[in-house]
Amino acid sequence: MGNSTNETVFKEVMGNYPTGVTVVTTVDENGVPLGLTVNSFASVSLDPLLVLWSIDKRVSTYDIFTKTEKFAVHVLANDQSDICSLFASKGTDRFKNCDWKLSENNLPIIAGAAGVMQCKTFKTIEAGDHTILIGEIVDIQSESKEPLLYHKRKFGKIPEEFYI
Ligand SMILES: Cc1cc2nc3c(=O)[nH]c(=O)nc-3n(C[C@H](O)[C@H](O)[C@H](O)COP(=O)(O)O)c2cc1C
Repeated sequence: MGNSTNETVFKEVMGNYPTGVTVVTTVDENGVPLGLTVNSFASVSLDPLLVLWSIDKRVSTYDIFTKTEKFAVHVLANDQSDICSLFASKGTDRFKNCDWKLSENNLPIIAGAAGVMQCKTFKTIEAGDHTILIGEIVDIQSESKEPLLYHKRKFGKIPEEFYI
């Protein structure tokens, strides 16, 4: 099996693995807020509370995220597909086009998420064309909102029949 076939099947299989959607934010050395849409998010450990996500080396803020001491992960709610698109598209001022404020930890917090985890960077691991960032949770907020789902490049809500 050739390389391109591997990649095609890999994308097909991973695309058929439904996830939620998060936006991860931080600030640069001048306090400028930065963020991107991420679905590689996963939980890692309960003691201590650890989560992970991975960043593509081609992302414009790669150097900042891989050096930052802290970041915030927002679990997007099902009415936040606009935030998902905003933080995935190039050439727009992401923070001018959403409602956000700085937390006590000096992290940009976007309004309206289903959950927000403020993390200090625990470890970074280079892995192929991405780097894995593991964060230790220092603050966590949960709202009673349904999550935004992602599957095969489409966004959606949890279907009614899911609860039967
Ligand atoms: C649903 C979805 C999930 C994504 N997940 C990731 C991810 O886990 N890691 C990543 O580096 N980029 C991910 N991206 C792409 C980034 O959001 C996008 O490349 C980034 O916003 C580009 O930022 P830049 O313009 O600063 O380079 C995802 C995009 C979408 C739409």
